[in-house]
Amino acid sequence: MEKEHKISYHDIANYNDLDETEKILFDKANDIRQRAYAPYSNFTVGCAVLLENGEIVTGSNQENAAYPSGLCAERTAMFWIGANYPDVKIKKLFVIGAPREAVSSVPIPPCGACRQAILEYEAKQENGIEIYFASLGGAIYKTSSIRDLLPFSFDASYL
Ligand code: THU
Repeated sequence: MEKEHKISYHDIANYNDLDETEKILFDKANDIRQRAYAPYSNFTVGCAVLLENGEIVTGSNQENAAYPSGLCAERTAMFWIGANYPDVKIKKLFVIGAPREAVSSVPIPPCGACRQAILEYEAKQENGIEIYFASLGGAIYKTSSIRDLLPFSFDASYL
């Protein structure tokens, strides 16, 4: 028997269609992206995370000559929040990635490992985290939960 697994997302046409908070998150993610440490891939990623206390925490990808030792922008931000604000809920996570000099119109989604890390914090806080992934010059996709990006997700409920 074939079954379907439905996910949903919003397709936001471009920056002008974001609300004020979303524009701030876009700007902060894009600002920090430009200072990413990505000398090996030259693919720069920025992440801005809005907490329920109104603070915005940012992160960028941090690469390493021993390639697997580097870390994505999303986990750089999420782990800092996990360490410093273990009891503060996360409301929104905004990510922008592109080759250093390119103006891409394709939204770059979080990698699989970052999705799993985001899921851990979403499950812990028992509230959805709105995920935005943006292109620089065009569409921005938004989901209301990481579960839309990670169907059949593995979490602590299976342990
Ligand atoms: N990268 C991120 O920072 N986030 C993602 O979700 C995808 C990939 C980084 C890792 C590496 O520094 C570069 O982009 C190229 O893979």
